[in-house]
Amino acid sequence: MGLLNSQKILSCSKHKCLQVLKLAIELDVEFVEIDFELASDMMNEVMQKRENSKIIVSSHMKCGTHSKEKLCNLLVCLQSTGADIVKLVTEVAYITDVAPVFHVLTHSQVPVIVRAVGDRGLISQLLGPKYGAFMVSGSLGGKSIPGLPPLLSIKNIYKLDNVDVDTKVFGVVSNPVGHSKGPLLHNPAFRYCGYNGIYVPLLVDNIKEFLRVYSCTDFAGFSIGLPHKEAAVACCDEVDPLAKSIGAVNTIVRRPGDGKLVGYNTDCDACITAIEDALRERQISNGENPNVSPISGRLFVLVGAGGAGRALAFGAKSKGARVVIFNRNFERGECLARAVSGEALPMDRLDEFCPENGMILANCSAIGMEPDVHLTPVSKENLRSYDLVFDAVYTPRNTRLLQEAVEVGVTVVSGVEMFIRQALGQFKLFTNGLGINHPRLPYFIELSVFCSFLYGV
Ligand SMILES: NC(=O)c1ccc[n+]([C@@H]2O[C@H](COP(=O)([O-])OP(=O)(O)OC[C@H]3O[C@@H](n4cnc5c(N)ncnc54)[C@H](OP(=O)(O)O)[C@@H]3O)[C@@H](O)[C@H]2O)c1
Repeated sequence: MGLLNSQKILSCSKHKCLQVLKLAIELDVEFVEIDFELASDMMNEVMQKRENSKIIVSSHMKCGTHSKEKLCNLLVCLQSTGADIVKLVTEVAYITDVAPVFHVLTHSQVPVIVRAVGDRGLISQLLGPKYGAFMVSGSLGGKSIPGLPPLLSIKNIYKLDNVDVDTKVFGVVSNPVGHSKGPLLHNPAFRYCGYNGIYVPLLVDNIKEFLRVYSCTDFAGFSIGLPHKEAAVACCDEVDPLAKSIGAVNTIVRRPGDGKLVGYNTDCDACITAIEDALRERQISNGENPNVSPISGRLFVLVGAGGAGRALAFGAKSKGARVVIFNRNFERGECLARAVSGEALPMDRLDEFCPENGMILANCSAIGMEPDVHLTPVSKENLRSYDLVFDAVYTPRNTRLLQEAVEVGVTVVSGVEMFIRQALGQFKLFTNGLGINHPRLPYFIELSVFCSFLYGV
């Protein structure tokens, strides 16, 4: 497809610009884009001379929150030039500034292209086809341009050709959001189930405002990432009791029927079941009662008292473990310890902490996470007193803590296992909440689908 864009050549003299555009029309370039400023001078001539070229008239608006009315008025001006297609480019400061752009798309009588420029404008391209955009743009060759999805992801991850007006929108609400693996997991899973949904990164500064603006039923569910998990609790109409006691929501589903926002926490179940499953084999071979959680009665040594730490502390407590918390900020650790009737100890006592054998160590701090991959919370020698080591960190997949635990013969559970399970929990909430059942998607296949898209295995 050929496309000549007069914005790029406006910096040359106006005369030269007009010459280039005329030449493009003589050469029958498929799409010729003319800036609104030039359109009045040359539109009549262009329309008479063009044979097959389609004329796009475009306008670029400076950064700011532009009302629906303002955008619609501009659209009318662009339309009045007689353009085949009109294009609005607007710089946005917040993701909520993109909502009026979607409004314009749905209400236009002529084909429209929109682009909200900047990181926070990315959804203007990913959701453009849902609102009837004539065309969307992507970046080429691995080059990252804020607000433009790579062309490869448009084709292979989001498959925007399949997106239509009925597509339900899901996404990860986070800041930053670029690192999220969610789109790699949820989009293929939707397709696998034949569910018409798209899952997109949502770079959100203020979650309350985001949920207020995108309140229509088409925005059906969200994964909640940093730093919004705690603020998300107050944004929900209802919160699952477990999420409420943890004080963090990592999933919000818009309930079909009444449209109420319901908050959940799938982190807790994800890591606790992963740890239980890893201990189960030994439990069976020891002849212990398989109906009792293998975590029950154990000393659960938790490093970190942030969002992940809180989820694990409540999960371990609910399974009958005795929880001991080590956190860099001691007061924060103490506060969590009180909430789960556990004990908080100073971080500098962690390495030598060894009151008994058979303990579980769970690292829920950022220790060992990229770029500090050389760090570990407990030295290799002292890992021997643990029966199992869990690391919530999943970048890198195989942390130093996990490597050294394996080297001294301790069972390990990686953060990837937790990540896959929490995403799976979200996927079930997203789809069951909308009345979909997945008889074709037994649990083990779901996991393998998620794994294959995460690691390409
Ligand atoms: N696998 C999964 O699915 C999954 C899910 C959620 C989180 N995670 C991982 O879990 C880790 C914590 O995430 P979060 O959501 O709990 O984050 P968070 O709420 O920001 O909490 C961060 C925790 O790490 C501690 N910390 C940060 N830097 C530290 C350092 N240099 N030394 C010692 N402690 C440090 C903090 O201690 P202070 O209180 O002293 O600041 C706090 O306890 C991250 O690596 C994250 O990627 C994994």
